[in-house]
Amino acid sequence: MDVLMLKGGASLKGDVNISGSKNSSLPIMAATLLTDDTVVLKRVPNLRDTRTMIKLLQSLGKEVDYKDNTLTVKAGKKAGYIADYDLVSTMRGSFCVLGPLLGKLKKAKVSLPGGCVIGIRPVDLHIKGVEALGAKISVDGGYVLATAPKLIGNEIFLGGVFGSSVLATANVLMAAVLAEGETVIEFAACEPEIEDLTEFLIEMGANIEGKGSPRLKIKGVKKLKGITYEIIPDRIEAGTYILLAAATRSDLTIKNANLKHLFALVDRLNQAGVKVYAEKNGDIKVSTSKKFKPVSVTTYPYPGFPTDLQAQFMAFMATIEGVSIISDKVYPDRFIHIAEMNRMGADIRREGTAAIVQGVKKLHGAPVMASDLRASAALLIAGLMAKGTTEIHRIYHLERGYEDLEDKLLKVGAKVWREKEK
Ligand code: EPZ
Repeated sequence: MDVLMLKGGASLKGDVNISGSKNSSLPIMAATLLTDDTVVLKRVPNLRDTRTMIKLLQSLGKEVDYKDNTLTVKAGKKAGYIADYDLVSTMRGSFCVLGPLLGKLKKAKVSLPGGCVIGIRPVDLHIKGVEALGAKISVDGGYVLATAPKLIGNEIFLGGVFGSSVLATANVLMAAVLAEGETVIEFAACEPEIEDLTEFLIEMGANIEGKGSPRLKIKGVKKLKGITYEIIPDRIEAGTYILLAAATRSDLTIKNANLKHLFALVDRLNQAGVKVYAEKNGDIKVSTSKKFKPVSVTTYPYPGFPTDLQAQFMAFMATIEGVSIISDKVYPDRFIHIAEMNRMGADIRREGTAAIVQGVKKLHGAPVMASDLRASAALLIAGLMAKGTTEIHRIYHLERGYEDLEDKLLKVGAKVWREKEK
């Protein structure tokens, strides 16, 4: 296994090209199961997770060709309905094939996704939603078996203990588009990735009102057609590089991203003294003042501050004089990165559900362990801020969600290289 080595302290300079969104690609790739026509998806990032989803589509009978970020999905000989444990267990996002399999084949057997370091991650809302459409559900041997003689539209409240659910909204939406009659999803997730999936389905011929809002109204149609579609930019990748620029006081230009998807992050950074703005051509610039102020943040479902940028924001706060309080209302225990940052000299502690960040003068390089995708990104930022060399172990976590990571960092002058695990 490789180790990612970082020599910190350098200020970076140059352009970073943002890739297509991982969290938009995965449900949209799953949605290709809703048609036997050919679908072409552009700007699909080449990541461990999208490659897993390709394998899953192939195991479900699709013929998939992937070249230069363009994915072509064609119907194969026989459509399958079983999503195997070995694929779903490596990527919980695979669970979003439940809805389209039910929608198209009226049956699905999908392995229950495991939990992960950021939380238990139940799927009760997914089940509630498809049951409301008439699916019969049983759980056996770690698999959810869903069958429906037919799916009938219904009014569904999809809010859970932590608010809306991104992939539960995706699953129910994809089951409803071919159902009979009208479905209303109340308290739907409003994330840009769900808006992108909704737009994709509409262009395939689905009848959906309320795109991007917490209330989606779907009138079932008979068939969906194959189309060519371009995935939106990855706002979490863009936010990660914006925070890297702020944390290392660097002059980075973030290209091909959409700053409108990052209002909450821009708000918090402005409070801290970091100016983030889009130029006329859409390029995002980050200008850093000399003195930053500590800023507190609480994550919420969109349009709130994204939980997927919480760890990266904490890294930025770690060397700002004063105290910032960070809490996560989406995954209250998503703080595994605290211990690793403290190994680098940060002074962060838990107080109840919050993390209290006491700014320190400097972080120091150290060997650290990646755990989940975004915690790993936070360690990358910390390592490039720190004095000395940092080794990030288990970097396969990073490879799940950041396309061409090392190339993009090298291009802006970061001292980053790989070594073999000793
Ligand atoms: C999506 O996961 C993203 N993954 C996650 O990004 C992201 O952190 C999360 O949304 C929240 O924004 C993909 O899109 C592939 P949720 P998802 O259902 O849909 C609870 C990354 O780093 N919940 O919106 O699985 C859940 O436990 C990943 O790219 C239930 O209680 O998340 C959580 O507390 C990490 N019951 C909250 O809702 C359910 O049935 C939000 O989870 C479903 C979820």
